[in-house]
Amino acid sequence: MTQSPAAQAARRRTFAIISHPDAGKTTLTENLLLAGGAIRAAGQVRARGENRRTRSDWMKIERERGISVSASVMTFDHEGLMFNLLDTPGHEDFSEDTYRTLTAADAAVMVLDAAKGIEPQTLKLFEVCRLRDIPIVTFINKMDREAQDPFELLDEISTKLALDPAPLYWPAGSGGRFKGMVDLRRNRFLPFAKKTADDDGHPDPIAFKSNAVVSYLDPDEQAEVEEGSMLVQEASKPFDPQSFLEGHMTPVFFGSALRKFGVAELLEGLGAYAPPPTTVPALRNGETIHVAPGDREVSGFVFKIQANMDPNHRDRVAFLRLTSGRFTRGMKLKVQNTGRQLSVNSPIMFFASDRELAEEAFAGDVIGIPNHGVLRVGDSLSETGTLRFAGLPNFAPEILQRVRVKDPLKAKHLKKALEGLAEEGVTQLFRPNIGADFIVGAVGQLQFEVMADRLANEYQLEVAFEPAPYAEARWLGGEKVDVEDFAGKHRGAMASDIDEQPVFLAKSTWEIGYVAERYPKVRFERSKERA
Ligand code: G4P
Repeated sequence: MTQSPAAQAARRRTFAIISHPDAGKTTLTENLLLAGGAIRAAGQVRARGENRRTRSDWMKIERERGISVSASVMTFDHEGLMFNLLDTPGHEDFSEDTYRTLTAADAAVMVLDAAKGIEPQTLKLFEVCRLRDIPIVTFINKMDREAQDPFELLDEISTKLALDPAPLYWPAGSGGRFKGMVDLRRNRFLPFAKKTADDDGHPDPIAFKSNAVVSYLDPDEQAEVEEGSMLVQEASKPFDPQSFLEGHMTPVFFGSALRKFGVAELLEGLGAYAPPPTTVPALRNGETIHVAPGDREVSGFVFKIQANMDPNHRDRVAFLRLTSGRFTRGMKLKVQNTGRQLSVNSPIMFFASDRELAEEAFAGDVIGIPNHGVLRVGDSLSETGTLRFAGLPNFAPEILQRVRVKDPLKAKHLKKALEGLAEEGVTQLFRPNIGADFIVGAVGQLQFEVMADRLANEYQLEVAFEPAPYAEARWLGGEKVDVEDFAGKHRGAMASDIDEQPVFLAKSTWEIGYVAERYPKVRFERSKERA
């Protein structure tokens, strides 16, 4: 049975999971894959979370890019729906990478540790989601451990995130006293089994307020959960799917990812409420149009590049999020900004632990396109090559360092390697107009360590980072004459980025304020959208 691109897109759910480290993202990912039938046994994704625990282990895992990349997107077919789970890097140093990944997601699951509520990284990631108003589903995890009062958790969501929480379930106790939860929509009670032999069997749901409940709750517990669920329904707004889609309301689920409790319910909720791909604004010949998932023309944008997944082959894979049409293997697509055409003969789809050739794909899907540097992060691809989706921003780095290669004969090699990493979006590269140094910029210190590690392992380059005499980088905007006038007068502080765009390297934030005042016609921008 062949379905139209619109019908195929309508059964896609493309989402990402955001959380503070240790809240349970890896455990939840794995158990969602299990609940969705994508994997049969625990342990496949889990290994990753454990390895990330320490920095050196984490870097080792980064080197084992096969694992890391197959986990970048995980696709599974479940109950007639096609789920694409996008992985976001957990470490805060990679917020830019996370931002880009979230541009490819239609919804996000926010995992909270029930004992900790909203943590700093949750807040940061939430803000990134809010920039795009992506609908957010909340999963309050670790209910099998001593948790905060659920009313307080809801209050925190509403005050810290300015989001209306709409609980769809209500927990009975927590920690040693966790007995299950009430399904508020269907008036059922889902009992939680403390320990089961195979660790995944929980008793079947029963009617709430039926006699059977007494086998799971003592009278006090029963009174408490009845009162709680009544109160919470009075106190909170009822779940409104429209308000959720607009980013004002979040449905709240409870559970224990580790004990596989509440995970199937979350998956069901994602299927029922998370939005399928919708229309995306784009520019065509200078005019704004809306690209619909069911449009004939195949289109999409590259949100991530991963290079050297296999260190023996200098391969690079571009992750393309499709926005419209029926993509078929062997199709020719054009890159909007360069006009280059490529035949996509071996597109990859990522099914949990396997990669497969994608014979066809639709809006909402993510395909990996192996290429040799033709594709860059932010590229728009389409059959006509005339569509351009809003660019993915580059953010001004917070740390700038000078990089030197220990063997001076390898300077040229270094240039290529740094360009490769910058094209992947790992770090940013600035070449000062005067001198032979390379300045690299990153959002956090860990990025430099990962970079040194990758330069050594993938490019056999021993490098040293030294403090750069610059503190900030700003892209220049404004009329050409004004930009050139400024650049001419500040030649010693000017550099080019990877796209040959002019960048001002300032010694301090104060200096930016100073020049901005003196050159009011020039804009000193903190982020740049790739043209
Ligand atoms: P992350 O990806 O968000 O960083 O979190 P991850 O899934 O790795 O989980 C962090 C820790 O929290 C792990 O424990 C994991 O087992 C535990 N965890 C996750 N979900 C639950 C849950 O629902 N209940 C309980 N009780 N624990 C949960 P760890 O001690 O670091 O590892 P391990 O020794 O358990 O393997």
